[in-house]
Amino acid sequence: MRPIGIKTIDNLTYLNNHLITDLVKEYGTPLYVIDDIQLNKNIEDYKNSFKSSMFATSIVYASKALLTKDLAHIMQSNGFMMDAVSIGDLYVIKESGFDLTKVVFHGNNKSLEELTYAIENGVGIIVVDNLFELKMLNELCNNKQVKQQIMLRINPEVEAHTHEYIQTARIESKFGINIDDMQKLDEALWLIHLSPYLELLGFHAHIGSNIVEVAPFEQLIKTMVEFQNAINNQYHLSLYQLNIGGGFGINYQKGDGALPIKEMMNQIICLLEANISTTHSLINHVMIEPGRSVVGDACVTLYTISQVKTITSGKNYLFVDGGMTDNIRPALYQATYEVDIINKLHEKKELCVDIVGKCCESGDIIRKNVLVPNASSGDILMVYDTGAYTYSMASNYNNQLKAPIVRVSKEEVKLVTRRETLKDLMHLMEE
Ligand code: LLP
Repeated sequence: MRPIGIKTIDNLTYLNNHLITDLVKEYGTPLYVIDDIQLNKNIEDYKNSFKSSMFATSIVYASKALLTKDLAHIMQSNGFMMDAVSIGDLYVIKESGFDLTKVVFHGNNKSLEELTYAIENGVGIIVVDNLFELKMLNELCNNKQVKQQIMLRINPEVEAHTHEYIQTARIESKFGINIDDMQKLDEALWLIHLSPYLELLGFHAHIGSNIVEVAPFEQLIKTMVEFQNAINNQYHLSLYQLNIGGGFGINYQKGDGALPIKEMMNQIICLLEANISTTHSLINHVMIEPGRSVVGDACVTLYTISQVKTITSGKNYLFVDGGMTDNIRPALYQATYEVDIINKLHEKKELCVDIVGKCCESGDIIRKNVLVPNASSGDILMVYDTGAYTYSMASNYNNQLKAPIVRVSKEEVKLVTRRETLKDLMHLMEE
């Protein structure tokens, strides 16, 4: 869907008063463009709606959706925490000047090197995925005599209706300890109990990504509150914190059915309050980890169209100067994006095309089967909702250069990451 900062006046399209064609002239294409107004609205909506008079709340931005120095500054200034999944994430977050005590470190297969880095740099919370990791972390903390706050990742076995690849809580998921695996849980809880260095804050669960229905979250909240209460009772513990992960969906297309952030959060808060109060739970602090819903609809990608190629069957391919290297989601998850040719907004959409990139791969698709106006060389294609899991999943396949990101507010156009250069391609190569 169109970010709020985009306006068309007299057939010219602007983002927060800046002509889109000027951005293209200055920075070239492909180009990721963040609408600062939409981004700030999303952040404000989270801050204003994920709060409760019954418990403390923390919003942990899931940086895997998009991580730049600029975003880290924005998250820090808004009081968000930040998640990380690798030593690379931790490094970028640290180099951005973000306070590492506000970082939640995830990952199902953290290495000794990564855990050591996390501990040495004072990462706030480590979400431990499994017993192997717990033992490694315990030994590390013992050796270094460092105290570490942790949460245990639980697989609550709540199925969410989303693409199979982005479900994370099916019974057979690789993430966390299954909620009914009492033997492993018992071993983990005893190990933590005996450790003078590990402090367990509570449990973590994340059921998947781009979930638009409330029902799976309802089930998740009920399951996790009951589970945490049961563990508190059974082991005479006082685990006060609960992290319910992220996964709140967005509307890539009309009718996708995702609720606005405020409405989704109001429902999540109501569900949490109801479950916590009716069960007399000790939980007094709840965290969420939204990624996609913070940045997804705040960004568009601009491409230059070169031609429409019609093959003998009559099928039309519209060629753009990017593709799966800057947005792999259509290839990976059959994701569908809305598009416009921004210099032809008022022309009739009568040409049916598959919009494809320039990679040597038939799956290199931006959008299948879509009606567009009669396109010609030099037209500019705008693809909406490309803020999440596009740049962060970008690749150099075919030695394509990574596209730059600009963030556009009323006052300025800020270059957030520059375009890769041909020289950058040689950086890792030995003689
Ligand atoms: N917390 C944890 C532990 C996660 O694994 C994830 C996403 C999130 C939070 C944030 O989820 P979000 O609010 O962004 O839905 N590449 C896929 C999405 C993978 C999501 C991985 N984990 C895609 O492009 O759809």
